[in-house]
Order: sequence, then C-alpha cells, then structure tokens
Amino acid sequence: METILNISNLSKTYQSAGRSLTVLDDINFAITAGSTNAIVGPSGSGKTTLLGLCAGLDRSSTGKVELNNINLGDLSEDQRAQVRNQFVGFIFQNFQLLPTLTALENVMVPLELRGEKNIKARATELLDKVGLADRGHHYPAQLSGGEQQRVSIARAFSNRPKLLFADEPTGNLDAETSEKVVKLLFDLNKEAGTTLILVTHDLDLAARTQRILRIKGGRLIADEKNN
Ligand SMILES: Nc1ncnc2c1ncn2[C@@H]1O[C@H](COP(=O)(O)OP(=O)(O)OP(=O)(O)O)[C@@H](O)[C@H]1O
Ligand SMILES: [Mg+2]
Repeated sequence: METILNISNLSKTYQSAGRSLTVLDDINFAITAGSTNAIVGPSGSGKTTLLGLCAGLDRSSTGKVELNNINLGDLSEDQRAQVRNQFVGFIFQNFQLLPTLTALENVMVPLELRGEKNIKARATELLDKVGLADRGHHYPAQLSGGEQQRVSIARAFSNRPKLLFADEPTGNLDAETSEKVVKLLFDLNKEAGTTLILVTHDLDLAARTQRILRIKGGRLIADEKNN
C-alpha cells in the first residue's frame, strides 16, 4: 500500500521566556494513501502542533516529514506553501478565515491560487454542500462559530486535496450539523480517495476511522486499528 505521509523521529521544542518546552518527542508513523485516521489525546498533548507539522504549516525541531514523497525539510517557506496548495486541505481548530473576505471569497482563495476556472460557481457549490448557500456574502464576523467552521470546511475541500487534515472539525457544531459534516468528510474519502487525518475529542467519531493514534505528553502512546 502506498504511503502518503511518513513521519520519522519528529520532535518539536518551543522556546519561551528563556525556557525550552518539548511538546512533541520522537514521533514515528506512516499513513496509507486513501485511509481514514484519528489522532486523539488530552488537551495540550501536542495534537494541533503535530497536525501543523504534518501539513507543512510549521517546521519540526528534529526529524522528517515526507508528504507525497516530498521531504518538507528540504523546502523553503514558499515551496512548502506550494505543496500545501497542491495536495493539502486544512480545517483549523480556530477556523482561520480571512476577516476582510466574505464567506464565498474565503472559499475561492485556494481555487484562485491554483488558477482554476469557474471558481465562483465551484465555491458556491461547496458552500451549498455545507448548508451555507445563503451566507456567501457574509463576513466571518457576521457568522456564528459553527457557520465559520463550515466555511473553513468548504475552503479545505475546494482544492480537492489528496490529504485532508481536520483539527476538531465538529468541535463547535450541534449533533445534526456535526453528522452532516462528518458525512461530507467520509464521502470525500470514499468518492475522491482523500486521505483523512482528524484530531478529535469525540471518541465516537474516532471510532469511525480505520486507525486511532493516541498522543499523550507529546509522545505517541498507542496506534490502534479499528474494525
Ligand atoms: N507557539 C508556542 N510556543 C510555546 N508553546 C506552545 C506554542 N504552541 C503550543 N505550545 C504548547 O504546546 C503544547 C501542545 O499544544 P497543542 O496546541 O499542540 O495541544 P493540543 O493537543 O492540540 O490541545 P487541545 O486539545 O487543547 O487543542 C501546549 O502545552 C501548548 O501550551
Ligand atoms: Mg489543539
């Protein structure tokens, strides 16, 4: 089976107030293309940090990240941005929508960066999928938390990523909307073969993936297959 993400001896140490804090310590795993995976662990255990390193948003202190056989450590900031735009979708825990752009424009950004055509129609279609067809002209500040989360999901889908990282994708949603979003994620996996890596505190959601990686205190403490 093809590996789409290979993490070896990954560590991350932050320097703050003259002290160093190791938040990830010697993490190793490989993710199979087309698979569904969950990362679980207590608050502060390093999940968001790990996701950011895997997606090339940030650089590790030591170790290696290979995404689609590209060693991210060899790349400049700009080259990493290109790899992200080409292969990666990211749903942020805190959404990270651009405040000066409308919902529709936020979804259009990755499409514009790729120089695609008919981007307005495609972005409209994506907003419709997350139930926000009538909110396209709203700015992020004019949307509820759950609505912002859904815009960020539509944006992450827009470049048809090979790998989709989602940090607490249902954290701000009610049960019904949450189920719709989860279905969108798994449909994308089934229909487009998108590899999913979800961070979640929702153990029912984690149980629906093929594999659960457990992080505690910055270390990978378990790696379990679901049946
Ligand atoms: N830029 C930074 N500088 C210093 N410490 C940081 C920085 N970013 C994160 N940390 C620390 O790294 C640790 C891991 O943070 P991270 O956000 O990865 O946790 P998490 O597992 O995603 O938690 P949660 O479930 O609450 O989202 C935390 O203790 C946090 O305080
Ligand atoms: Mg987090």
